[in-house]
Amino acid sequence: MSLVERDKKVVWHPFTQAQTERDPLPIVKAEGSLLYDEEGKSYIDCNSSWWVNVHGHGHPHIRKAINEQFKEIDHIVLAGATHPKVVELAERIVDTLPTGYSRVFYSDNGSTAVEVAIKMVMQYWFNKGTPKKRFLALEGAYHGDTFGAMSLGQRGYFNKPFEDFFFQADYLPFPSQENEEKCLQQADKLFSTGEFAGVIVEPLVQGSAGMQMYRPEFLNKLMKIAKSHEVLFIFDEVMTGWGRTGEMFAMNHCDATPDIVCLSKGITGGTLPLGLTVTKEPIFEAFLDEDKMKALLHGHSYTGNPLACAAACATLDLFETEESKSNIQRICDQHEAFVNKIKGKYNLRDLRQCGTILAIEIEIGEGSSYFSNVREKAIEHFYGNGMLLRPLGNVLFLNPPYCTTNEQLEYCYEKIEEFLKEKAV
Ligand SMILES: Cc1ncc(COP(=O)(O)O)c(C=O)c1O
Repeated sequence: MSLVERDKKVVWHPFTQAQTERDPLPIVKAEGSLLYDEEGKSYIDCNSSWWVNVHGHGHPHIRKAINEQFKEIDHIVLAGATHPKVVELAERIVDTLPTGYSRVFYSDNGSTAVEVAIKMVMQYWFNKGTPKKRFLALEGAYHGDTFGAMSLGQRGYFNKPFEDFFFQADYLPFPSQENEEKCLQQADKLFSTGEFAGVIVEPLVQGSAGMQMYRPEFLNKLMKIAKSHEVLFIFDEVMTGWGRTGEMFAMNHCDATPDIVCLSKGITGGTLPLGLTVTKEPIFEAFLDEDKMKALLHGHSYTGNPLACAAACATLDLFETEESKSNIQRICDQHEAFVNKIKGKYNLRDLRQCGTILAIEIEIGEGSSYFSNVREKAIEHFYGNGMLLRPLGNVLFLNPPYCTTNEQLEYCYEKIEEFLKEKAV
């Protein structure tokens, strides 16, 4: 039996309708920006394997760090114990973020990083004796698949079967430039009720909504309004972190900083699962008390796993190199040149870029949709041409590992143009 046949008997794939989806790619090796199937055919990892492989697969520096850590401590419980890498990583994260952050809470993935942020906000107000019950999010939001994260995501879509179980949330319309003022006025009005505990955004780029992009100027103003009403602000940088927007974090484009930041995905360079929820001292202090119930009574068995922390420290080493910085800039420039080249051509609804994220929204004559069948045609085309590029419905997007060469990018652009010219509609 082939690998795919065996897979189809026992594996339940994420985000997949097993009855209709094409067979999965049998990938047996990964190196740099390339993946190889059983027959030795290569595929460019156009979406960095769900945004995680920022420096490419199998990076020797990260591999060495994991191997060395494995010789010292593989895992220990983080309640009541600590270890060198968990401390080093927290110190370095606090130094890497803009000033003002001082506390790092560990978990395992993007959804749990968000879940912890939500619980921090809820309990912050509870501990202060002024419980507040309302949250604000943006229409089109995606913050993960655990219940808190789903409760603050777009309604009526991915999570319909669960909606009766969600806590209540309010939503601002997507803050496109012409909508900004309306959104800000609406936020101000809502916050004036004094009932809002927190607000959460995917800063600058809404991923699952189809790489919808908006301006840092809007975030600056929204943060100011939230602060004036004492509403805690969460930036979900799970996707936008680690150089994706051209800066290390989306918040580096802003004048102010949020109270809480969620990080995951690229943090270990795609080697091991890790999520971080980072906050400032006043929030941490609200959990200090003689009363043990006022602690954040939350944790996961693998919290602060030493191998993951070592991988994350090694990933940060790589981000500090000139090579990594110039690769990020190079990909931004290449994308920009491609955008200029195809602007006004083909049947496109929109063409968007934010740093290393390029999005091409194909006109389909109706509202864009995750369930558009452009997706199936695109997957056949790109897989066939040796590219692991998975569109969001009718939105093609590229967010490759930073080691992807100019020649590989040119090849991707060429195949994208081929698709737009011949197969997109
Ligand atoms: C903005 C954002 N938040 C949270 C998540 C959830 O992360 P994970 O898939 O690691 O649970 C994602 C995942 O795509 C995301 O894009």
